[in-house]
Amino acid sequence: MQFTFTAAAVVESDALVVGATEGPELLPAAVKADRASRGAVGRALVASRFTGKPGQCVEILAPAGLKVSRLIVVGLGKAGDFDAAAAEGLAAGALGRIKGGAETEVVIDLIGLKGAKVEGVELAAHLALGAKLKSYTFDRYRTKDLEDRAQTVKKITIATGEAAAARRAFARLEAVADGVFLARDLVNEPPNVLSPVEFARRAKGLAKLGLKVSVLGEAQMKRLGMGALLGVGQGSERESQLLVLQWNGSRKKTAAPIAFVGKGLCFDSGGLSLKPGNSMMGMKGDMGGAAAVIGTLRALAVRKAKVNAVGVIALAENMPDGGAQRPDDVVISMSGQTIEVLNTDAEGRLVLADALWYAQTKFKPRAVIDLATLTGAIMVALGSEHAGLFSNNDTLAANLTAAGKAAGEPVWRMPLGKGYDKLIKSKIADMKNIGGAHAGSITAAQFLQRFVQDKTAWAHLDIAGVAWQDGEQKPLIPSWSTGWGVRILDRLVADNYED
Ligand code: BES
Ligand code: MN
Ligand code: ZN
Repeated sequence: MQFTFTAAAVVESDALVVGATEGPELLPAAVKADRASRGAVGRALVASRFTGKPGQCVEILAPAGLKVSRLIVVGLGKAGDFDAAAAEGLAAGALGRIKGGAETEVVIDLIGLKGAKVEGVELAAHLALGAKLKSYTFDRYRTKDLEDRAQTVKKITIATGEAAAARRAFARLEAVADGVFLARDLVNEPPNVLSPVEFARRAKGLAKLGLKVSVLGEAQMKRLGMGALLGVGQGSERESQLLVLQWNGSRKKTAAPIAFVGKGLCFDSGGLSLKPGNSMMGMKGDMGGAAAVIGTLRALAVRKAKVNAVGVIALAENMPDGGAQRPDDVVISMSGQTIEVLNTDAEGRLVLADALWYAQTKFKPRAVIDLATLTGAIMVALGSEHAGLFSNNDTLAANLTAAGKAAGEPVWRMPLGKGYDKLIKSKIADMKNIGGAHAGSITAAQFLQRFVQDKTAWAHLDIAGVAWQDGEQKPLIPSWSTGWGVRILDRLVADNYED
């Protein structure tokens, strides 16, 4: 899909999207359309009791007096409440209505909107971002109905007073959206195709964007003592991989990086603690954390973020063959701490234990943030509205909370504490990999914290509830996988870590 920004008053197009705030108070383009139609637009608004409330929408086909084949008047609500997320939702909603029609070009004109939380250049850029995020498709494995499913709209034009500046603002957002698309693609990809080695192979393709990509295989990980990570992949025919992505965009070449660590279970059968069939479905998405990390690094590279960042991604497949790890096994992690593995389905924390340790010892990062589809329990607590946030650092937690809110990927902080940590004491080793029946997301986070060095600012995002959507689709996410994590991390970096 092609995006253009124009300050020209008259723009030819197939479909035109105009707006009105509550009242309704028509914005200039809507007033103009009403005049050109000799009041027919206004009468249509009255007939459909349009008041300009957010989400309201009146669609007029082949309006007399106008060149466009479709006019869409959308309600913006109260100007003071209209923010970037509302702009994105508006454009996505309009695109959703037009898709499947004959129109290939759409113009969105909200020029003249005053007193909103997002205006001018930012408004134009976020309208385009909404349309872009909504345009995602994953049809690689379909051979039928491709024409019906295809994106019919090819070109979106945003009318704005400052076209050049809007184009620049959008270039930055489009880099982020392309990172989201990469993450969505990887999570949607079936597990017979996307093995750990294949994931790493695709990552190597990002080197052309200026990312440094390196991969450790099992032999190298063994030498480093990564017994926790290797134990997880031991029951799979496929080799585990540790993938490292580096973006060095800071002017200070040697500045300590921010580190992102991702859980990359290309498939989680549960291992010998096998999941029941219904719970196993969707476990191709258990690399959602890994996908968010690679998507973020891609976004940072494309928009040339002035930051040093590193992504450490633990890739493995949790399978139950004859060589598989057993419940009762004890493994030695790279940190030297021993772990009694009582449930092979609590594997995410095991791979992260070594990936976290590697990230800290190798890169001495300013902060470490891990993302993982770690526990079903976080879905019980937070559903799919928030990801769970755990942190040893109040500033980092506050920054992540703010970034999530601004980027449309909200997080909710959960507690950590000594009382919870006790729940993972083992009878024979330094810790066990499961807690009791309760507080499952917290005991998982406590486990991770044991692999965080005291001086390291660390946050853990449990994204099990937000990495994919089995129920209703969210407006900006027309796919099973969401690509969750790229937007919040990009925003966190932009607001706190760039030169
Ligand atoms: N990948 C799962 C967590 C998960 C569950 C993600 C459902 C998305 C949807 C994780 O590896 C897992 O199996 N966790 C167990 C931990 C338990 C055995 C302590 C869980 O949540 O049941
Ligand atoms: Mn599991
Ligand atoms: Zn898992």
